[in-house]
Amino acid sequence: MANDLQNKSQLTVLAIESSCDETACAIVRDGVVLGESISTQIPIHRLYGGVVPEIASRNHALNVNLVVGEALSQSGLAIADVDAVAVTYGAGLIGALLVGVSYAKGLAYAHRKPLVAVNHIRGHIAANYLAHPTLRPPYVALIVSGGHTAVAEVTDYTHLSVCGATADDAVGEAFDKVARVLGLPYPGGPEIEKLAREGQAVIPMPHPKMAGKYDFSYSGLKTAVINYVHTKEQRGEPYSKADVAASFQDAAVSVLAQNAVALAQEKGLNTIAVAGGVGANGRLREVLNNYAYPHGIRTLFPPKRFCTDNASMIGMEAIVQIRAGAPFADLSLDAVATIPLRSH
Ligand code: KG4
Ligand code: ZN
Repeated sequence: MANDLQNKSQLTVLAIESSCDETACAIVRDGVVLGESISTQIPIHRLYGGVVPEIASRNHALNVNLVVGEALSQSGLAIADVDAVAVTYGAGLIGALLVGVSYAKGLAYAHRKPLVAVNHIRGHIAANYLAHPTLRPPYVALIVSGGHTAVAEVTDYTHLSVCGATADDAVGEAFDKVARVLGLPYPGGPEIEKLAREGQAVIPMPHPKMAGKYDFSYSGLKTAVINYVHTKEQRGEPYSKADVAASFQDAAVSVLAQNAVALAQEKGLNTIAVAGGVGANGRLREVLNNYAYPHGIRTLFPPKRFCTDNASMIGMEAIVQIRAGAPFADLSLDAVATIPLRSH
């Protein structure tokens, strides 16, 4: 469908996010969040040590209408006042995505609003436009979520060129798996960060890097941690879980910082914007700043609530797309579990 909103002076979008374990809605006007509601399922999935897809879908179905009502009431607007309905169509858990996509299609159809399909990872990147309104492409994006790990050159508002990515586990996934080995609850990232503050990075860890110039590999690092813990336990030797957490965390974040800074230098770009849940990690923030600062490169992080899954970033990305003249989706829109980053 043709985009007839590209040049409208003010754009207001209602955005829905349901790709994993957060059911969220936000009302975003240009770069400002007018209303936002998140229903988190973390306490439910914690009982199982990770996200159970079927339970996630059911809880999205229970909560989507509530978060939409709450976000609208916070904004003081009615659906009639919004210009478009935006929704995450992928990547994520297929059943979870389907709840948001079906709801958004129904809302758009009933209220005769255009529908904008948003790629979740592009939403994570767009969180930086919300938090740093002066940010303009080109810049380097460091993408660090539960499903993706990559460094990319964002060439303009709708194009990015992936220069390095993980060959196996995503960094967030590695945090979650290591946390499980250490007996920490889901989601593991914040728990590892907390425990690491009490320890020291003194245990040697493999460097999670691949042959490709900017590529990553986290499975070797994860296996090294698992072997270390199992060996200690089998031998009945004492060890410090806090030191394991600190050593793993330093190895995991250092390579991210090195690759992002090296790419920015090669491309002559002076900004690195971080996108995704692991961007909430304080040690990543510290290490990236330490690498980038001496090279005159600035680092941008969204506030923590915009790093992990939320609908405000989806609304912002929808506005970026509309402004760039991207066509609207139609009612044949379907959820997509996997969207290769390199395809964009
Ligand atoms: O971007 P996100 O919210 O969801 C996906 O799109 O995947 O990322 C979730 C990931 C989880 O693996 C979680 O453990 C990790 O982000 N994470 C963290 C922190 N907060 C969330 N990892 C390290 N340190 C944190 N503080
Ligand atoms: Zn995410």
